[in-house]
Amino acid sequence: MFISTADAAAADVMTSELIKVWIADQIAVVTLNRPKSRNAMTLGMWRAFSSILSALERNPDVRVVILAGAGDDFSAGADIAEFEKVRANKEQAGLYEIAVDACCDAIFNFSKPTIAVLRGYCLGGGAHLAMSCDFRYAESKAIFGIPAARLSIIYGVRGTRKLLSLVGLTEAKKIMFGSQRFDTKKALEIGFIDHVSSDVQKCSDSLIGRLLGTRGPVVPGDPMVDARDFAKVMTENAPLSMAGAKNQLNGMSRGTGALDLQEIEVLIAQAADSHDYREGREAFAAKRTPNFLGC
Ligand code: COA
Repeated sequence: MFISTADAAAADVMTSELIKVWIADQIAVVTLNRPKSRNAMTLGMWRAFSSILSALERNPDVRVVILAGAGDDFSAGADIAEFEKVRANKEQAGLYEIAVDACCDAIFNFSKPTIAVLRGYCLGGGAHLAMSCDFRYAESKAIFGIPAARLSIIYGVRGTRKLLSLVGLTEAKKIMFGSQRFDTKKALEIGFIDHVSSDVQKCSDSLIGRLLGTRGPVVPGDPMVDARDFAKVMTENAPLSMAGAKNQLNGMSRGTGALDLQEIEVLIAQAADSHDYREGREAFAAKRTPNFLGC
């Protein structure tokens, strides 16, 4: 177990398997695991994320993180059923939003690339999780929405800013004011997601159907397969370059003044002094594939 046991929230959530982590081929898949509740996020799950991600940040075997949901859905958002207990008044709501922000900041500021794999519902706080990742890969029948105005909740500043930077002012207002769900076609058109997996036409299952060449059902393509393909491409690239690009692009997307130029200079200097920079040049000269170590 790579989670620090000092963090009680993370330890509880990991022990109860509400969030699962698998690591293989330098890709960590973090899975929200409450499929019966459409992976609605409990307060404990929001709180556990920072520790999980800091463990993955430190783990040199991890180059890319994929965030997904168990079962049919990504996440139907915050667990409304526990609001009565944990978000019942303004004091609790304040603390709750701190936990949501900490979780989404941990994803957004994670130095390695992140991809959200979106199946089924991706709503409310689930949309915030997805928007905190670098990329959003969806299946064709995924459904999106931010129904905060159906609950009289004001979506936080971070989530609203990410929405604005992805879809622009008018679409952001439409999503927030309308509180309506939208499909993958619309999500791709407005820039909420950046990839939809192609559907697969299955051959007919029956013998007669196959003999007649009758076409079978259309099965949605699996965004996890596409996400893993792109993750694999990224695992072969220099971690320091991607971390530097991410730091700059994230900073620039937060608006004027948010970019820490000194921090960027440190990252650029670190990359220029790295093993990987030498390796990149040597591999180029030797006409071979570079073997990057992330240092
Ligand atoms: N919080 C807590 N439980 C949730 C949930 C949420 N955000 N979303 C779904 N669930 C639970 C349902 O209560 C239900 O539990 P039950 O089987 O014990 O009754 C289970 O997940 C299955 O959902 P259900 O509503 O029966 O499925 P559906 O196909 O009819 O509708 C949704 C699916 C996602 C459209 C609907 O559940 C919904 O609107 N959820 C709330 C979405 C939302 O407002 N999110 C923003 C939160 S800030």
